[in-house]
Amino acid sequence: MAPEIMKGKFITFEGSEGCGKSTQSKMLAAYLKKNGLSVVYVREPGGTRISEKIRSILLDTKNDRMAQESEMLLYMAARAQIVKEIILPALKKGKIVISDRFLDSTLAYQGYGLGMDLDFIRQVGKFVSLGIKPGLTIFLDLPVKKGLKHRKFCEDRIEKRSLDYHGRVRQGYLKLARLEPARIKVVSVEQEKAKTQSKIRELVEKYVI
Ligand code: TMP
Repeated sequence: MAPEIMKGKFITFEGSEGCGKSTQSKMLAAYLKKNGLSVVYVREPGGTRISEKIRSILLDTKNDRMAQESEMLLYMAARAQIVKEIILPALKKGKIVISDRFLDSTLAYQGYGLGMDLDFIRQVGKFVSLGIKPGLTIFLDLPVKKGLKHRKFCEDRIEKRSLDYHGRVRQGYLKLARLEPARIKVVSVEQEKAKTQSKIRELVEKYVI
């Protein structure tokens, strides 16, 4: 991260479908706020007017003919917007930014999942991220079959992909974590919600303090 924006802390949550990422990340944001910290909570894709519009295009099951190149670039476009409008200004002000997903999602879902070139995704990611990078990433890990159990009820365009696809996404995340063990921490969610949350808090406290 560029020196002038080092003041803030950037924490991201990653995970496969149904891992409880939104619940856990929101619980963390509430906990930090309760402790007097200034927290900005966002989700990807989304979080700004433009990015939410892009989100609905991306997840609409009617868009079943979307080219993978369009898909990757739309995730990046949504990211460019939220970085410029919300994340970068907040980090410059010294806030803690918690994002439900960031660039690792594109590496996992479009890179490892669809087989797109990882280095190219990293390059485009760098371009849209304006020099920011998470200092801590929590990867909430769950076996694919368990995560997709609920899928009949709320299927979006990505979620409805095959078990094999979601397996590649999960393995991709685990590879990313092995490549950057200092930043990406793997937390299993095959335990009580409260236990997962206290493990997350432990990791975050080490990073924030
Ligand atoms: P969500 O379910 O966590 O809100 O995320 C929306 C979907 O978009 C989810 O299936 C993961 C997928 N996704 C990608 O495929 N690539 C990305 O870069 C991001 C941010 C999400």
